Amino acid sequence: MTRTVRIAPSILSADFADFAREIRAIEDQGADWVHVDVMDGHFVPNITFGPPAVKAFRPHVRTVMDVHLMIAPVDPYIDAFAEAGADILTAHVEAGPHIHRTLQAIRAAGMRPGVALNPGTPAEAALPLLDLVDLVLVMTVNPGFGGQAYLDMTGKVRTLRAAIGDREIHLEVDGGIDPGTAPGIVTAGADVLVAGSAVFRGGSVEAPEVYGRNIAAIREAARG
Ligand code: DX5
Ligand code: ZN
Repeated sequence: MTRTVRIAPSILSADFADFAREIRAIEDQGADWVHVDVMDGHFVPNITFGPPAVKAFRPHVRTVMDVHLMIAPVDPYIDAFAEAGADILTAHVEAGPHIHRTLQAIRAAGMRPGVALNPGTPAEAALPLLDLVDLVLVMTVNPGFGGQAYLDMTGKVRTLRAAIGDREIHLEVDGGIDPGTAPGIVTAGADVLVAGSAVFRGGSVEAPEVYGRNIAAIREAARG
């Protein structure tokens, strides 16, 4: 079966002084979604941006703003991210003891809920949550930084794809995705590929065609 594969560049690898033009550049060059990595220096050892920054990105995103929360706790910030204009809001299953409540609150706030799994968390942790989510994110690095080495999660992705069955749930992978790693994980069942370094490498807003070539290379490789 052929499944449409979406490429979601992570703006963690963009020029932090120029987000508006960077978002324009990746969308013009074929990005399907824009992936926004929110880190709190507590759930992960790095700090990026909060709701005001996400709100500032909003008017520049014409596709889908895919917001990946690497924060704990999540619940106190859900309304702020809704107001900031997130389309998809993904919370980690490891981020708190009440994940069902979190996912319900994300839906109630008008966003599409996603649940993320760290590499050390088994597929089974997401199985009781499939009726509550529009997306499952399988991390293929330990979250916190761009440019890390890929961890093979094909078994986990295969298990989740089988469990998802014919439900309309995206299966996203994030970390170390490039033309070399994309084919295996797409064959296993991933349909949204987040890529930071592999999209932004070698390009800039002055040379956006490089982003286009990088995105096309991942898409081509994923096609097999
Ligand atoms: C990692 C982030 C990723 C990261 C991916 O914590 O969630 O989205 O930006 O970067 P690459 O593609 O460089 O591994
Ligand atoms: Zn991410």
